[in-house]
Amino acid sequence: MQRLLPDPGSTTVEQQLDTYRPCEESREDRPYVAMNFAATVDGRATIGGVSGPIGSETDTAMLVGLRSRFDAVMIGAGTMRAERYSGLDRRLIVVESGPEGRVDLPVLLRSLREEGVRALLCEGGPTLHGALQAAGLVDDLFLTIAPKLSGGGAPPRILEGELEEVVPLELAWLLEEDGELFARYSRR
Ligand SMILES: NC(=O)c1ccc[n+]([C@@H]2O[C@H](COP(=O)([O-])OP(=O)(O)OC[C@H]3O[C@@H](n4cnc5c(N)ncnc54)[C@H](OP(=O)(O)O)[C@@H]3O)[C@@H](O)[C@H]2O)c1
Repeated sequence: MQRLLPDPGSTTVEQQLDTYRPCEESREDRPYVAMNFAATVDGRATIGGVSGPIGSETDTAMLVGLRSRFDAVMIGAGTMRAERYSGLDRRLIVVESGPEGRVDLPVLLRSLREEGVRALLCEGGPTLHGALQAAGLVDDLFLTIAPKLSGGGAPPRILEGELEEVVPLELAWLLEEDGELFARYSRR
């Protein structure tokens, strides 16, 4: 794998993630929060209703490596319904509406921090991503761009929902292997 930015040169998933220590960045009132998504070049976050066919084996290795850097993994109810989630060696938090409606995300993150969660990897989906960004609760966004076009009617993009303001991002790193791009964006 090649690192295109910063410091161009060869690297591996392990070497790259070795420098990434989100548990050391926790906030007082919430864990450090990173999102992870894979998308096609035409911006689709699903193929046939699931994310599996988008990324390569290297994308899977990146996701598995990323999980190991975090205390817990979080997903929305829609992702839980669509994807297979089993055998995770991290605590899994599923965000689903209760009798009182949608989950209050700042309250949830505060309670997770109080329980000792220093860093949280949110693996989607697009609706939960939109809600977290709208509330200013996302620090990093890992985005794999697979070199493929999927077309389709109206599959979701990596973020769905309204944002009051455009969220400016900084490209923290960009990696490439076999035409697949692995970007890490940080909130400015
Ligand atoms: N390409 C990728 O990397 C990737 C990653 C993840 C998912 N996906 C795909 O995304 C699709 C699912 O998308 P989605 O947007 O429906 O799923 P989602 O974001 O995982 O789940 C959204 C659901 O979470 C629940 N929820 C409860 N409180 C919430 C809050 N405060 N904010 C937001 N949501 C809250 C609601 O469900 P209830 O009201 O039912 O409780 C809501 O409909 C699947 O097809 C999956 O394959 C792709």
